[in-house]
Amino acid sequence: MPGVTDRVIVVTGAGGGLGREYALLLAKEGAQVVVNDLGGARDGSGSGTSMADTVVQEIRDAGGTAVANYDNIATEQGAADLIKSAVDNFGTVHGVIHNAGILRDGSFAKMTADNWESVQKVHLWGGYHVIRAAWPYFREQNHGRVVVAASTSGLFGNFGQANYGAAKLGLVGLINTLAIEGARNNILANAIAPLAATRMTEDIAPKEMLDKLPPAHVAGVVGYLMSDECTDTATVVVAGGGRVYRVQQFQNKGAVFTTPPSIDEVAAQWNQITDMSGAEPGANPLG
Ligand code: NAI
Repeated sequence: MPGVTDRVIVVTGAGGGLGREYALLLAKEGAQVVVNDLGGARDGSGSGTSMADTVVQEIRDAGGTAVANYDNIATEQGAADLIKSAVDNFGTVHGVIHNAGILRDGSFAKMTADNWESVQKVHLWGGYHVIRAAWPYFREQNHGRVVVAASTSGLFGNFGQANYGAAKLGLVGLINTLAIEGARNNILANAIAPLAATRMTEDIAPKEMLDKLPPAHVAGVVGYLMSDECTDTATVVVAGGGRVYRVQQFQNKGAVFTTPPSIDEVAAQWNQITDMSGAEPGANPLG
């Protein structure tokens, strides 16, 4: 069974932007797709059925297989109902793309608890809820694929996105452990950090840049990470505008102290501690 043929794949936030492209491509390649979207605004307010319905209709018109789902994946019940929809319609779930997201930008000085929490709830908690609901099926069938939407704003920081960046890097922390815990059941967990012109970026990046970033450029990468051919796990891939590359954490040799160092002794070794020349891929020293 090559690629994603007959695989049951749930895409959260698939009623527009990147998620829509993922759903269209996966269905074109023979997957059975659950198109989830709450149908609200960019800041998470409101809801509706037309976004998910429109994408499902597009898929069906092209001869593909898909069902719509309007659950709010930021809640445990919504995520459980979403996975139930996959199982009820297609018998199981083989893959989850946790792509749903909202924006509540603002400098940290002005970051309200409400804007912090709403963003964590959709991105980070949503990832937890949806993947957790799918996890028993992955383990039972010894096959599972997870892709979470990370962001260069989390990997590298971005002004005004403390809430968003924290949630996005939190998802990378999540897949790092899911990769370890899922390994013996053939469950792979990876992250995509996309760059694309969508409603999320329409007023953030300049038009000349956005013109070079059609969301379709990202879909094939996510499709590969969902496929039977993929064997990588805990990989973070940036994709946009035709360029696709991996981002990874590295560590240097550092310094070794045989007795608890004083502040002055740390200061004396600081270059040795921070110089990344000769650095190698990092690993958990306790793992
Ligand atoms: P988008 O706003 O078009 O898509 C997000 C979708 O998620 C929307 O259709 C929205 O209705 C849905 N959604 C929001 N909250 C939901 C909830 N609680 N339950 C179900 N659905 C919900 O934006 P875009 O750009 O397509 O973003 C997709 C993902 O990629 C997001 O996670 C975003 O943070 C991430 N991303 C996008 C980048 C870009 O350049 N467009 C850059 C980095 C990350």
